[in-house]
Amino acid sequence: MGKHKADKKAATIAPHADASPRIDIGIAADDRRKIAEGLSHVLADAFTLYLKTHNFHWNVSGPMFNSLHLMFETQYTEQWNALDDIAERIRALGYHAPGTYHAFLQLSSIKEDPDLIAPPAWHDMVAQLVDGNEAVCRTARRVLKLADKAGDDPTVDLLTQRLQTHEKYAWMLRALLE
Ligand SMILES: [Fe+2]
Repeated sequence: MGKHKADKKAATIAPHADASPRIDIGIAADDRRKIAEGLSHVLADAFTLYLKTHNFHWNVSGPMFNSLHLMFETQYTEQWNALDDIAERIRALGYHAPGTYHAFLQLSSIKEDPDLIAPPAWHDMVAQLVDGNEAVCRTARRVLKLADKAGDDPTVDLLTQRLQTHEKYAWMLRALLE
């Protein structure tokens, strides 16, 4: 019983635990682990940015209300759908996908801002979303290089699509501040 408890605890703090150790899809085990770990960081960044974009959809105000309310909705909807593809790629690589706020806080490069309880002005929201989209790009680009070296084409394809989207969103948001 003591061992079972210890195993349970290890599983909670190690979201990257290999769920299928005997998997052989032609990617070296070590590469598969590194890519799955990297994708967990991409998922955490993407989820954090998704939530922030939805938060700002709810709380934006001022003369830009209508256009930003709609723009944020378009972006968070696309991001929400992509979360599933990232998580399921981690599963296909034989690992568990993180799915708790606790894990996302640990894994994300986008840090929680406790002051966000009070909504910032619209231009601060836009600037924060530029930063967030750029952060996802940096993480995705790092993992894409790993996947490319390992011959993991589905992950390369997925991350290429995510980079196209997040670089485009960063540009569209940046343009509002010029
Ligand atoms: Fe809405």
